[in-house]
Amino acid sequence: MSANVFPVPADVAARAHIDEQKYTEMYRRSVEDPDGFWGEHGKRLDWIKPYSRVKNTSYDFHNVSIKWFEDGTLNVSANCVDRHLETRGDQPAIIWEADDPNEHKVITYKELHHEVNKFANVLHGQGVKKGDRVTIYLPMIPEAAYAMLACARIGAIHSIVFGGFSPDSLAQRIDSCKSNCIITADEGLRGGRKVPLKANVDKAVEKAPVDCVIVVKRTGSEITMKDGRDVWYHDEADRVSDHCAPVEMNAEDPLFILYTSGSTGQPKGVVHTTGGYLVYASMTHKYVFDYHDGDVYWCTADVGWVTGHSYIVYGPLANGATTLMFEGVPTYPGPGRFWEVCDKHNVNIFYTAPTAIRALMGAGDEHVTKTSRKSLRLLGSVGEPINPEAWTWYHNVVGEGRCPIVDTWWQTETGGILITPLPGATPLKPGSATRPFFGVQPAIVDAEGNFLDGATEGNLVITDSWPGQMRTVYGDHERFVQTYFATYKGLYFTGDGCRRDGDGYYWITGRVDDVINVSGHRMGTAEVESALVAHPKVSEAAVVGYPHDIKGQGIYAYVTLMEGEEPTDSLKKELVTHVRSEIGPIASPDLIQFAPGLPKTRSGKIMRRILRKIAEDSFDSLGDTSTLADPAVVDDLIDNRQNRA
Ligand code: WTA
Repeated sequence: MSANVFPVPADVAARAHIDEQKYTEMYRRSVEDPDGFWGEHGKRLDWIKPYSRVKNTSYDFHNVSIKWFEDGTLNVSANCVDRHLETRGDQPAIIWEADDPNEHKVITYKELHHEVNKFANVLHGQGVKKGDRVTIYLPMIPEAAYAMLACARIGAIHSIVFGGFSPDSLAQRIDSCKSNCIITADEGLRGGRKVPLKANVDKAVEKAPVDCVIVVKRTGSEITMKDGRDVWYHDEADRVSDHCAPVEMNAEDPLFILYTSGSTGQPKGVVHTTGGYLVYASMTHKYVFDYHDGDVYWCTADVGWVTGHSYIVYGPLANGATTLMFEGVPTYPGPGRFWEVCDKHNVNIFYTAPTAIRALMGAGDEHVTKTSRKSLRLLGSVGEPINPEAWTWYHNVVGEGRCPIVDTWWQTETGGILITPLPGATPLKPGSATRPFFGVQPAIVDAEGNFLDGATEGNLVITDSWPGQMRTVYGDHERFVQTYFATYKGLYFTGDGCRRDGDGYYWITGRVDDVINVSGHRMGTAEVESALVAHPKVSEAAVVGYPHDIKGQGIYAYVTLMEGEEPTDSLKKELVTHVRSEIGPIASPDLIQFAPGLPKTRSGKIMRRILRKIAEDSFDSLGDTSTLADPAVVDDLIDNRQNRA
């Protein structure tokens, strides 16, 4: 092993489900005999009708088809709730920590059962049926989990839209999956500030009309309710019974749709199904976080992202875990909030994103060291590469050197974690996601798709299916095939670059396509560009990512104005406001450069490679610019660059 390796601590190894030897044996079996391996591990769920067939998958470009446990039937909410009643009815299922540090709530499995049944009956009462799509646009309140599980209970397919998205983005997602019912709240509350969720819904449904809007009361502020369409959740819940039998679902029935950004076009509706997804989410949750009965587990993500789906709600609850759900932000009321919450609820396992770690690292160690954190045993990271400096701070200051860090690499499309350390089995290297989880076969290819062996660097592909894999793009299977299986025929292409070292450890280097990762949130450059050119004063726009100290990547926009428009600072502000209202605050450009011309090839293709280099402030290595139609535009771009690192 190379330098800077952190061996597995003896106490961690002693209690872990999986040690090094077990990892090696189980991994070997998982790839040599996937049917046998997953056939056995699929039994971690309660099936109504057991499956007889396990893996039936094809990565053949002409016939991409992914099915797992295809003849089995089950219900996800029964697996996440009902089956725990007998053994852990009085155990906390969800600990909810409000935005206000003086408010929290503990929901036992018994209470969760009651709430989910009620919510399911409210949905029924509004006419929602099996197979219908339900849009959820909620803040981080327990009702978000109840709503998800209620959909699963009656076989409706949820599509959660992150509360930070604008009315336009919400409308587009409602329209794309033809959803007829929205669950929202009067307002959200984050860092003491109110988020006008219902008002946003009102704007969205002007463009994408729906039959029903169910409104959860959170802040109690004045909102408008439309008769015949909008109902208060608490009014409806008062009227319905708390018994709703879970519907028998096929393993391959869709569980949810989640929209995510890609390199082209509008966001794609990633479809996850019932059986394979839950097997994979629950199994990874147990082994990656080495979850043991009684542990308190906290994932700081929002349920609007896949991390919230798999590792706040479905994985932990399927395992009968205690999962903490946090409404607020890391820096409110102060930058010690995360660690105060860890002490308040005796959190053992803590899972967050590098962007939060970097922000808190910048706020000063005293906010951490004034807390105890003695309950913490394991730390996790997700969403973007974690730089070794942030890793080391997380390890030394937050974890006092005693908590391993699981740097988990995965994607919305993968449903669960694919490359990760297992705390009892994997020596750590800061910045490396280390090794594949069971059943996952990563490989590195060059631009032509040739497999590269040994220590190498290239593009990350996965050579065969695992149960948590997405099945299709909602309503557009061809787009699924073209996006993930056309670049390298017969392989799943992740869109990520990757290095493998001499020990076989994987180091994710970031996206190699036109997706940027801002604070762990995926943003397609094409989406930001189309928002910019929708502004009447903009004639053309090109957007790239550039290194950002806190966010990982920032958004850098080159904008060409319409003839006669003045390139002023106030216009820059106007464009930022415009993008926020078109997509949402997470898409706000950090830097805007007015560019009289963009570097294009003679055939009119924008040379993004050049724009990326200039945005990175490393323009002395621009490479070949001789194919440009007008090489002089590059000099102007360099002279007026906005990032002088
Ligand atoms: C990036 C989030 C490095 C990667 C679960 C991936 C990471 C994209 C890591 C997916 C990690 C996620 N190390 N990069 N540990 N985790 N990524 O769909 O570029 O929001 O392709 O899923 O985030 O983002 P998504």
